[in-house]
Amino acid sequence: MFKKNAVDFRNLEEVLNFAVKGEEEAHAFYAEWSQKLSDKALKKVFEELAGEEMKHKEFLLNVKKGESLKPSETEIMDLKISEYISDARASADMDYQDALSLAMHKEKEAYKLYTGLAAMSKSEEMKNTFKALAQEEAKHKLRLEIMYDEEILKEN
Ligand SMILES: [Fe+2]
Ligand SMILES: [Fe+2]
Repeated sequence: MFKKNAVDFRNLEEVLNFAVKGEEEAHAFYAEWSQKLSDKALKKVFEELAGEEMKHKEFLLNVKKGESLKPSETEIMDLKISEYISDARASADMDYQDALSLAMHKEKEAYKLYTGLAAMSKSEEMKNTFKALAQEEAKHKLRLEIMYDEEILKEN
């Protein structure tokens, strides 16, 4: 059932359209900043993530045609770094740390969105599909958190 404070979707089509938009935004964010960032390692990760967000979008479009996903059995580790690192704002002078913080928070939001959609879904198939997508975003967050842990936290 939909919670009162949740976005009120009328049907699956609307849910999927909403998720597609989110993936487009995620792709645009990584694509834009992979161009602007100077750090080579981060540039590369952002390029790869841009590609993966695009794949998520394509996948969601296929879900509209009846495809589904199965979540993996293994739980994705959560370093919970984004929980105590404040969110950053995208700006022209965004540094390595800001870019990572911002991306981690975006991935956390994407994870929360898909987890919420899984909980709202009535069919087992859609539950699994959204759970699998939540896992994808959790993996993205973990990847960024590991970088943050290694490059920022361990340096100080
Ligand atoms: Fe995604
Ligand atoms: Fe992601």
